[in-house]
Amino acid sequence: MKNMHLNFFIMMSLIFTSIGEAKTTSYPNYQPKNFNYLKGKMKGFDDKLLTMHFTLYQGYVKNTNLILRTLKEMADNGQDRTIGYGALKRRMGWEFDGMILHELYFENLGGVEPLPKKSALYQEIENNFGSYDEWIQEFKATGLIRGIGWVILYRDPKDGHLHTVWINEHDHGHLAGGTPLLVMDVWEHAYLIEYGLDRGAYIDAFIKNIDWNAPMERFEKVVSGSGR
Ligand SMILES: [Fe+2]
Repeated sequence: MKNMHLNFFIMMSLIFTSIGEAKTTSYPNYQPKNFNYLKGKMKGFDDKLLTMHFTLYQGYVKNTNLILRTLKEMADNGQDRTIGYGALKRRMGWEFDGMILHELYFENLGGVEPLPKKSALYQEIENNFGSYDEWIQEFKATGLIRGIGWVILYRDPKDGHLHTVWINEHDHGHLAGGTPLLVMDVWEHAYLIEYGLDRGAYIDAFIKNIDWNAPMERFEKVVSGSGR
């Protein structure tokens, strides 16, 4: 009898422990990355522009965390069939993508060297677009589309083709399961205070400041199967 009581106690403890663990690990708390090292390093991107842009990025991290926490609290309080819950669910991808795209964007900036012609990524660009120059022309043309959004050189997950993709705002137009190799912000806040309405001049400055190590690393990881 004594053993039966002991077994029951152990079983209940395990159940409650697992419930407790599920509750405490149900949403993440993302931390903003520090990109201050880019300041003073890039011709055509002054500190004022970068400081403002970093602050905007930090807002996406904060709001992503806030939405995830609020959704969990609403669900815990039985409010998961409400209009407010649905609105936040719709908003979540917008804030999350705003966070991730800014990280990919800043991480592929700060370089001075062109993409090495002998690199696997350069060869792949030539295979897909005819030549590097033809791809750059397409990349610039995509960046000049009216509206706010992003331009991404994507590698599709189906057969590895490269595509130059327009993203509306942050969340419309992504290739599901694809790998973003190079990411360019073309929201007005990315260039307006330095270039006015001359988005073309900003795009030229962006291309000159690409740190190609990031896209090459992303490409190598997905091709080798060690990451997306
Ligand atoms: Fe931005």
